[in-house]
Amino acid sequence: MKKVFKWLGIVLGSLVGVILLAAIVLFLVGNARLTKNYDFAPSNLTLPTDAASIEFGKHRVETLCQGCHGPDLGGIVGWFSDPALGSIDSANLTSGEGGIGDDFTTEDFVRAIRHGVRQNGEPLFMPAVASTAYLSDEDLAAIIAYVKTVPPVDRVTHGKNFTPLAKILYAAGVLPALPVEYVSHDVHVTAPERGASAAYGEYLINTNDCRICHGQELNGAKSPDPTKTWISPNLTPGGELGFWTEEQFIQTLRTGITPSGRQLTDEMPWKDYRNFYDEELRAIWLYLQSLPKLSQFTN
Ligand code: HEC
Ligand code: HEC
Repeated sequence: MKKVFKWLGIVLGSLVGVILLAAIVLFLVGNARLTKNYDFAPSNLTLPTDAASIEFGKHRVETLCQGCHGPDLGGIVGWFSDPALGSIDSANLTSGEGGIGDDFTTEDFVRAIRHGVRQNGEPLFMPAVASTAYLSDEDLAAIIAYVKTVPPVDRVTHGKNFTPLAKILYAAGVLPALPVEYVSHDVHVTAPERGASAAYGEYLINTNDCRICHGQELNGAKSPDPTKTWISPNLTPGGELGFWTEEQFIQTLRTGITPSGRQLTDEMPWKDYRNFYDEELRAIWLYLQSLPKLSQFTN
């Protein structure tokens, strides 16, 4: 009998040892990925100085950046927070205390927004890069030019702070990869002419996070946030939108209430999207209506 227990002890002991070793290896791999240094060729982007471009930059920031960086662009402390995984603060984009500061160059902005890398070359956890990498030079330059004009906000943010468990889950592929690891770094998008066209609508969809939450095919997807369990609705004519009019679509994005009277939750950033101009919402509608009828993504 004693022998059996001894053997059981050895087997269990080695099993725990193997698991511990695997956890340590994964931790080290995860940690290395999170602190890896990246370098990209300079973009040589020139910033506009005319009022119309800066105004357009402001408009883009209102629909695209404010939801995550706050209305004053001073950053949101605890933008993501989970007791087991850790926390992420979005950056303070101003020159105030705790902000990115005046020495944050245009190239630093480009590296963050197009490549997902912070000033010191390490990966950023800014999932929006999957969209913002597709901004045209002109739009990106207008956005940066505007951000540089916002008044300073004093707010100290701490970037990402992951627990050892989160680092292990990263390396194991349970948590999503870092944007710098999956976005394409040599995209060069020329935006179609602005206006109410399906082509411009496609460009707006590509650059405003819609696919991050509604899926590459826009027929719904699992939440990109692994701590949430929702599946987003189908935006192709195969979903509820197949029964809406353009007017109803615009009303939904402006008010957050669908034609059937359902209030959209804040998981859908309609409070940012209600800032879209009419012609932009029309463009998005035209593009969505031009898509093939797909059935709702389920799992
Ligand atoms: C989905 C949310 C989200 C959106 C949308 C978003 N950001 Fe971010 N951004 C973040 C988070 C979170 C961080 C900090 C990530 C980290 O520290 O790893 C960040 C970091 C940054 C940084 C890096 C600062 C540094 O420390 O190097 C810049 C610059 C930035 N964002 C600019 C923008 C601009 C401009 C836009 C709009 C075009 C934008 N972001 C849209 C969430 C977002
Ligand atoms: C951060 C995730 C996220 C992003 C980004 C996002 N959505 Fe959504 N969206 C959702 C979720 C979740 C719902 C369902 C909300 C509910 O039912 O309360 C939704 C609902 C909708 C609806 C209502 C559909 C229906 O059948 O009721 C429309 C229309 C919509 N989104 C369009 C868009 C467009 C267009 C974009 C890009 C400009 C976009 N969404 C970006 C998460 C997102």
